[in-house]
Amino acid sequence: MVLQVKVVVTTLVCWSIIISYDCVVVGDSQTRIVLNSGCSSYNASNLNSFYANVNATFLDLRNQISNQSKHFATAQAATGDVLVYSMFQCRNYLSRNDCVACFDTASTKIRNCSASNGARLIYDGCFLRYESERFYDQTNQPGNGILCGNKTAKEGNATFETIGQTLLMNLQLATPKIKGFFAATKTQVTPGGSSAVYAIAQCVETATESSCLACMTVGYNNLQTCLPNADGRAYDAGCFMRYSETPFFADNQTIDITTYLNQGGSSNKWAIIGGVVGGVALVVILLAFLAWRQSRKSKRAPRGNILGATELQGPVNYKYSDLKAATKNFSDENKLGEGGFGDVYKGTLKNGKVVAVKKLVLGKSSKMDNDFESEVKLISNVHHRNLVRLLGCCSKNQERILVYEYMANSSLDKFLFSNKQGSLNWKQRYDIILGTARGLAYLHEEFHISIIHRDIKTSNILLDDNLHPKIADFGLARLLPGDRSHLSTGFAGTLGYTAPEYAIHGQLSEKADTYSYGIVFLEIISGQKSTEVKPDDDGEYLLQKAWKLHERGMHLELVDKELDPNDYDGEEVKKMIEIALLCTQASAGMRPTMSEVVILLQSRSLVEHLQPTMPVFVETNLKSREGHSTSTGSSTSNATASISLPSGR
Ligand SMILES: *[C@@H]1O[C@H](CO)[C@@H](O)[C@H](O)[C@H]1NC(C)=O
Ligand SMILES: *[C@@H]1O[C@H](CO)[C@@H](O)[C@H](O)[C@H]1NC(C)=O
Ligand SMILES: *[C@@H]1O[C@H](CO)[C@@H](O)[C@H](O)[C@H]1NC(C)=O
Ligand SMILES: *[C@@H]1O[C@H](CO)[C@@H](O)[C@H](O)[C@H]1NC(C)=O
Ligand SMILES: *[C@@H]1O[C@H](CO)[C@@H](O)[C@H](O)[C@H]1NC(C)=O
Ligand SMILES: *[C@@H]1O[C@H](CO)[C@@H](O)[C@H](O)[C@H]1NC(C)=O
Ligand SMILES: *[C@@H]1O[C@H](CO)[C@@H](O)[C@H](O)[C@H]1NC(C)=O
Repeated sequence: MVLQVKVVVTTLVCWSIIISYDCVVVGDSQTRIVLNSGCSSYNASNLNSFYANVNATFLDLRNQISNQSKHFATAQAATGDVLVYSMFQCRNYLSRNDCVACFDTASTKIRNCSASNGARLIYDGCFLRYESERFYDQTNQPGNGILCGNKTAKEGNATFETIGQTLLMNLQLATPKIKGFFAATKTQVTPGGSSAVYAIAQCVETATESSCLACMTVGYNNLQTCLPNADGRAYDAGCFMRYSETPFFADNQTIDITTYLNQGGSSNKWAIIGGVVGGVALVVILLAFLAWRQSRKSKRAPRGNILGATELQGPVNYKYSDLKAATKNFSDENKLGEGGFGDVYKGTLKNGKVVAVKKLVLGKSSKMDNDFESEVKLISNVHHRNLVRLLGCCSKNQERILVYEYMANSSLDKFLFSNKQGSLNWKQRYDIILGTARGLAYLHEEFHISIIHRDIKTSNILLDDNLHPKIADFGLARLLPGDRSHLSTGFAGTLGYTAPEYAIHGQLSEKADTYSYGIVFLEIISGQKSTEVKPDDDGEYLLQKAWKLHERGMHLELVDKELDPNDYDGEEVKKMIEIALLCTQASAGMRPTMSEVVILLQSRSLVEHLQPTMPVFVETNLKSREGHSTSTGSSTSNATASISLPSGR
């Protein structure tokens, strides 16, 4: 089924006008910038009743914000079996009149979704949404996005970035704890200086503290990539964040959010993280490492235009004949590689779009026949900039084919161990490490069901034109019959990357991915394969070597000799390696979650509180054939591992 999604694309033109006029504060500009808008892909069943209900809810909403001076309102109406749920929120810094004005504009402009059973419109100042299904508890939705200004901050780029980052991180943590889920803050960039960072964060009032935090975390992770540009906004179904060097609310709206940062218990590591984040220490540390993280991000369009449950776009069902033509009858010439789940071909569709076509080899399994469509549908709804998009599928007789977006730069292993070896600089490696962590955090914690990848390795991390990482092959392990899920019968992972508890006992959790990620992390830093033993390494594999060097405080020894030593800082390398070792600890429970890894990477001072414990060293019989990596590529190692435990020393 091909769903057509009608989307009114964000007005970039308008955006640039706003920038040059610098008029973000005045009243009607609250509605000048459309951050996101769209119509549901489904039609309402009884249009007359539906619109009568929409009108009734709008009247109710307006009454609440106008007569009762509310900034947040929901309303529902039912006639017969036709239901309408509506929600409106304006930013709390707006006056009653501005809020009502924003509503009036939104409720007029939203009326061009013809027969759709849902619509939304997000402005800087407010948002309005209606649906035929209840959506009040939605916070994180695919299609969330950011809009970054393209101007760099006026004063002190690095400082602006540091201050902005700290401010947004604090907002992310504080806002869920504040009654009404709204906070506005202002922080001077340099003491006594003229410029400041203004920022707000807001969740819908129907969120819970934890769903608000989840939404804020995604928003923060996205929005901080706008820095050091002068302004940016992040929107999602249930929350909003915005910062700017130009004031967009009155100074007397601000609150002191630091009082919300140290609340809660003290024994868990989140409390430590929260506490330190609140402290000034972070600013100092951030300053130290931001020097090499500058020069990024300009002109950024919103990442997606689809937001909301009714907008979940189904996968495209491709015709077998079309895919056959696109790949020249699956010719060797078009073959990008062979991987664990099947061969991958480069395909050029009739409309000129280049895709990667993966012919699955999954063997006969009734489970797969039943689950294929629903799994494909699920995977195709996973949207994240660090995850390879699944565009659609094709089933013909026994054939199962998946169609992915095409990544011209192929996979990370090529850049580390093969023809492009040594071509990644330190910053690029850091960005790949961070991006991969974000992609995994999304799969584990932010998508509506938790997806464990089970086969994280360098050949499954593809790089886009800007060398940003995109994780491939997620969700495919779910298609394997259950009995292939661990070593006793052949496991889904790959030698050298698989967490010991999964390889040996088949105990699978998100932490198995954390482990594999830690191994990839070490490979990126060292430029050495996890299974490779260098001549002067005493027969020790990468993880053993890393641990030994860590114990001796000789972290720099691990760093890829191809890297320019002026490119990185010794302390920073040490922290990075410690984070990798936190991920590969023997006890799965002690390993950080991937969202914790994201936070640790961005504020490495925190690592001091979390010293890694020793990993388990799995000895393997490495008569393995390394699989060929592929463009959306997976590879398996055909090695039959004779894994022996325990080890350590
Ligand atoms: C709903 O309100 C709009 C705008 O005020 C109006 O044009 C439309 O006729 C109304 N529809 C129904 C079914 O009442
Ligand atoms: C709200 O105000 C409008 C117009 O100002 C009025 O018609 C309506 O009756 C009021 N509703 C309530 C509940 O006070
Ligand atoms: C809604 O209005 C915008 C401009 O006002 C227009 O570009 C868009 O095509 C309209 N959408 C529909 C579904 O009519
Ligand atoms: C929805 O309604 C519009 C106009 O009434 C029509 O053009 C469109 O084909 C319908 N879409 C679906 C999926 O039924
Ligand atoms: C920002 O974008 C606008 C329109 O895309 C362009 O005209 C302007 O030059 C850009 N400004 C900077 C500083 O890049
Ligand atoms: C800030 O950025 C601008 C433009 O990118 C540059 O010209 C200026 O030197 C930078 N200032 C500092 C303090 O880094
Ligand atoms: C905040 O300041 C504005 C003027 O800048 C004033 O109109 C408003 O009443 C003040 N609000 C509060 C709560 O003090």
